[in-house]
Amino acid sequence: MEIANDLPHLIESHQLRTHVNKMPLLSCRFLKSYREQRLAHLVLSFITMGYVWQEGNTQPEEVLPRNLALPLVEVSRNLGLPPILVHSDLVLTNWTKKNAEGPLEIGNLETIISFPGGESLRGFILVTALVETAAVPGIKALVQAVNAILQTSQDTLLQALQQLRLSIEDITRTLGQMHDYVDPDIFYAVIRIFLSGWKDNPAMPVGLIYEGVCTEPLKYSGGSAAQSTVLHAFDALLGVRHSKASADFLYRMRDYMPPSHKAFVEEIHAAPSLRDYVLSCGHGCLLTAYNQCLEALAALRSYHVTVVTKYLITAAAKAKGRRPNPLPRPPQALEFTGTGGTAALSFLKSVRDKTLEAILHPR
Ligand code: ALA
Repeated sequence: MEIANDLPHLIESHQLRTHVNKMPLLSCRFLKSYREQRLAHLVLSFITMGYVWQEGNTQPEEVLPRNLALPLVEVSRNLGLPPILVHSDLVLTNWTKKNAEGPLEIGNLETIISFPGGESLRGFILVTALVETAAVPGIKALVQAVNAILQTSQDTLLQALQQLRLSIEDITRTLGQMHDYVDPDIFYAVIRIFLSGWKDNPAMPVGLIYEGVCTEPLKYSGGSAAQSTVLHAFDALLGVRHSKASADFLYRMRDYMPPSHKAFVEEIHAAPSLRDYVLSCGHGCLLTAYNQCLEALAALRSYHVTVVTKYLITAAAKAKGRRPNPLPRPPQALEFTGTGGTAALSFLKSVRDKTLEAILHPR
């Protein structure tokens, strides 16, 4: 915790690796509860990203020392998570209320562990956490919708679909707060590198050696919004079918979710098909409500494209144009590639287009 609490400064002053190398070997035996295990994964994965990328993209550290690798791998095995920073670390476990009685609003929230990037880093994490909060009524509506199909209750299903659409629209609005809190130049040049992994990343083509765990390097993808359960669950209910390449990536990302989240997505997927139900019951209102969910989801995905264009594509062009530049030279290998390893824009456009293709046209 001492190292983690000082992480931005230790990284920026190039001292983190030295501190980690002197760290005692910790045992996960002493972690008493699930909360403590999740905190351990949060802390150890943040330190790992800082350790690997302390000197930037051109000089990654390719060996994780055993006093960091062993506890990270141990706690990862206990939790069923990969030994790298994942969305559930960066976002889901990484916020606290300043005033416990106060609202879940950005002014009353703070991150627990940080990277360099100051207010923009804080904004990126907390706005993403608020996006997850906006999805909560949608997740509840999914469960309501599945139960309504099982009980053939069309009114409840209609209500659930309307609730789902409202939640998706709220997610899109909430994502818009990114513009208020995250500076694209800082995001691009300072923050992104720490979310990068060692799979599908030319800066670390062979992966990372986890000392004391395995002599061969291991490959793990960097952080990605595709590790959030939310859109997987929405796609599963609505029956959106992605292209082979996108579907393969999304499927792989389920192993970067807490196992209970993955199980939830699988359960929604295994439930009786909403599309078939909407088609067979001949209820025009249901068909409209179903299509409106898909339209709202496609609009969210289009909006995500505009956000990524600003924070990756335009920021990359600006970073190239201005030299000398006070900000560090951004990772060129990651210019058009998301930190999760996909060709970010074409991936996002493809998932958006496939969402629109799922729209049902009355016969
Ligand atoms: N996945 C986001 C990016 O590529 C964080 O920048």
